[in-house]
Amino acid sequence: MPPLSSRHLSSGDLVADRRLEMARDYAAAGETIAAAELTEQALELAPEWAAGWFALGEFREAAAERAEADGDAERRAGAIAAYREAARLDPDDRCGAALRLARLGAAPVPDAPPAAHVRDLFDGYADRYEASLVSALGYRGPALIERMLDAHAPGRRFAHALDLGCGTGLLAPVIRRRVDRLDGVDLAPAMIAKARGGGLYDTLEVADVTAAMDARTPASLDLVTAGDVFCYLGDLTPVFTAAARVTSGGAVVVFTTEAVGEEEVGGEVVLRDSLRWAHRRSHLERVAAATGFVVVAIDKETLRRDRGRDIVGHAALFTRS
Ligand SMILES: C[S@@+](CC[C@H](N)C(=O)[O-])C[C@H]1O[C@@H](n2cnc3c(N)ncnc32)[C@H](O)[C@@H]1O
Repeated sequence: MPPLSSRHLSSGDLVADRRLEMARDYAAAGETIAAAELTEQALELAPEWAAGWFALGEFREAAAERAEADGDAERRAGAIAAYREAARLDPDDRCGAALRLARLGAAPVPDAPPAAHVRDLFDGYADRYEASLVSALGYRGPALIERMLDAHAPGRRFAHALDLGCGTGLLAPVIRRRVDRLDGVDLAPAMIAKARGGGLYDTLEVADVTAAMDARTPASLDLVTAGDVFCYLGDLTPVFTAAARVTSGGAVVVFTTEAVGEEEVGGEVVLRDSLRWAHRRSHLERVAAATGFVVVAIDKETLRRDRGRDIVGHAALFTRS
């Protein structure tokens, strides 16, 4: 998965951009204090550069993590100040400063990343997405969804499916052969363009998953799929409330989520350092019961790798009661 970063947002000032590039090289070599200093110089040239402030926050935060306890609090405060400045300068928050502030305990944990941030992130990732996720990171989403459907809806043919956060369409081959009509929705236009190129969806829409379901005719779907999308949502109640409204009795919702590990502290839903959310099994069960779904299966599985580690998640299948 791509690191959540401000890499692709330019200041419009070549010298400032160049300083930040050098700063990134320093940071990559572990020289986070030098990286922060270079970024401060870049920001003297481009003080309104939200992505520059965000990068400064990242370097200061990394420096705080490496520092002795004494320097820690000050650098952390400096990181928070830089993220706040990034958020102030870009109200759409394309860099995702709100998530960093939440992780640092300086702001409430939001229900989802800023939409502009998800769009920017995946628009910038669309060309590399499939090679990176499937080949390099061993992404198993489509295989897991297929296995759930084979196990719990064997031979079933669906009339109308919606693939939430369809991305480039990696799930489409798995779904297409089971459905008469397949629609996809995703926040990132460049991901949607790739999915369109695959030619397996009947319609594709650039929209938020919950808003897209809210806009549909009630009880019009009998299959909803979501591969590796709910890690971009915290509490899943709103998305399942929307799914309940738009599905008919007996409809299937099949999805993957990152699972909260035994050792992880936090409630049912945890915003991780990766700035993705993980959900406990108890959250999935509670949300299903509260929104009109029956849990058919929640299996623990490896979803993919991230930064050299296996990401353990749940592959789940619910039916609409
Ligand atoms: C990791 S990709 C998964 C794509 C695809 N489902 C797959 O299995 O390959 C996550 C996708 O979810 C989309 N996404 C994240 N949050 C979203 C939201 N609230 N509404 C719509 N799409 C969203 C992103 O733009 C991205 O394309």
